[in-house]
Amino acid sequence: MFTSSGSNPPTDRTPLLRPIFTAAQSTFLPRHRHRRHQKHRVPVFSIVFTLSALICVAFLAWDVSSFGYCYVTPLCRALSGSKGLEQLWWRNQGPCAPFRSQGLGGGKRGLPKGCEISQVTILHRHAARYPTAAAGECILSALKKLDDREVKIPSRHPEYAFLAKTDLKLRDWKFDGLMDQGRKQSWMSGRQLKQMYSQFIGKAEGVFTRSSGGGRVVETSGYWLEGFRGDKFQLKEKSKLPKTDVEIPEGEDYNNTLSVHSCPAFQNLAPKLSKLKFEDLTPLLEPTLNRLNTILKPHPRLEMDDLVCLGDMCGYDSQSKGEDWTGWSKWCGIFTKNEWEIIGHGKDLKRWYDLGEQSRYGPTMGAGYVNELLARLTDSEVIDSTTVNQTLDSDENKFPRGGKRFFVDFGHDNEILEALSAIGLMLQHRPLPTTFVPPKRTYILSRIIPFGARIAFERVSCQTGNWEPDPEAGDEYIDNPDRDSDGKRDYIRILVNDKIETASHVSCEFSGLANFGLCELDAFVESQQFSKQDVDWSICYEDDVQGQSLQTA
Ligand SMILES: *[C@@H]1O[C@H](CO)[C@@H](O)[C@H](O)[C@H]1NC(C)=O
Ligand SMILES: *[C@@H]1O[C@H](CO)[C@@H](O)[C@H](O)[C@H]1NC(C)=O
Repeated sequence: MFTSSGSNPPTDRTPLLRPIFTAAQSTFLPRHRHRRHQKHRVPVFSIVFTLSALICVAFLAWDVSSFGYCYVTPLCRALSGSKGLEQLWWRNQGPCAPFRSQGLGGGKRGLPKGCEISQVTILHRHAARYPTAAAGECILSALKKLDDREVKIPSRHPEYAFLAKTDLKLRDWKFDGLMDQGRKQSWMSGRQLKQMYSQFIGKAEGVFTRSSGGGRVVETSGYWLEGFRGDKFQLKEKSKLPKTDVEIPEGEDYNNTLSVHSCPAFQNLAPKLSKLKFEDLTPLLEPTLNRLNTILKPHPRLEMDDLVCLGDMCGYDSQSKGEDWTGWSKWCGIFTKNEWEIIGHGKDLKRWYDLGEQSRYGPTMGAGYVNELLARLTDSEVIDSTTVNQTLDSDENKFPRGGKRFFVDFGHDNEILEALSAIGLMLQHRPLPTTFVPPKRTYILSRIIPFGARIAFERVSCQTGNWEPDPEAGDEYIDNPDRDSDGKRDYIRILVNDKIETASHVSCEFSGLANFGLCELDAFVESQQFSKQDVDWSICYEDDVQGQSLQTA
């Protein structure tokens, strides 16, 4: 009756009840009429029985599917829209989400005729890892309460039955370490990017890679390099993996643009805005807390912190099994759809308030990386007084001055967000709401910094003779004296997880190729006034608590 992948998939507005009813009517009513002169009771009974059975099945599937537990897969699919639940879970995993490509990818794909890549920088997050030690403690404490619950298997709640069989002590989890799925995903990313940029890499001056010093980042870079080189995937000891050209140590004592811990005012900020803003949201989660406490009767009762940590189990557990993705964990079913949206929005808003474009420290901590990027894009030396290690970056063996190179930097999620904030990409029109979940969420971390996230900064050189410049752009742009004598002009295109994000950037305003996400490089460099000039690193040494407020400018 239904195919889940047909050209006309059933949606909420074309529920399965209708077709089943018509089928039921056409099958049973004629027989009813036919038997009118015989006994009455049997057909009436069978009609009522059949209809109630159908209604029961439909309601059961409907009700239970909202928890993510499904008896009849096609029915649940039909009721939640195709892949509805999977999308819901993925969208609400925040920084623990598995990598999903968001677009067609870069390289020659999508470039207008006459344009070619002349430099690439990839900023790559490490791939899937187990919870950090600190998060692991929180998770284990919540799981302990569940382990000591009074209701082992709640009747009428099949979505919690798995708790009786699952390992609530997480014996095999290696906190802080990479998961096998992460290792494989790093390798795949290396392969994919090699393929995506094969044309450019074939002509490039070279490939140059850097890694932040943390174990999981270094390991990510190792598997990535193996994939990039075309080696086959194989789990191996860390020491046997290839190394990046430069490794920058992590810690408060180091200037490291890929892992910024040298801003004491941010490190010591207490409470952070993330905490304050998330507290505004917690009343919305009280009913969830009560629901779980009532159904499972954990001992002692779950608190809000426990709930937040349980909200990470779905993503972690799904990625912790084997080398390949096999599907979503049963943990994803412990919350309803609405509960997931609140939990997910909570994860997103925490990072945005701490590191987003309006935060006091986010753009400041991202400026160093942006200045390195600008140096590469303009083939010049790095000018920075924030997080750059001058010793390292003034050495051309450790920091080549741009050129036709393929650069890859391996680091962490925060630094990606900080760099995007400093650049002014993915800006929000208004601060994220903290007392409700907006119907249309525009800042979703699983799209920006999932495990293995990758931001591509492409320098693109275009033959400008072929196209007409935008007549509204004004004289200075129509005949720009900066244009190379060979009629070429440089552009930048930025992709976040394979999706072009530059089109809305301020530097694209006057670009004749904005439709392609290509912004003029000169305009882009010009637009980076914050990192080049305005950034004030001294706020990192102030010890006032004013930092809590958002910048108003
Ligand atoms: C800068 O880099 C050099 C060379 O790698 C290293 O010896 C030094 O400790 C680093 N300094 C800081 C402040 O990061
Ligand atoms: C590290 O950063 C600080 C702050 O910008 C700067 O004063 C110092 O010179 C830097 N150290 C190195 C080795 O670049």
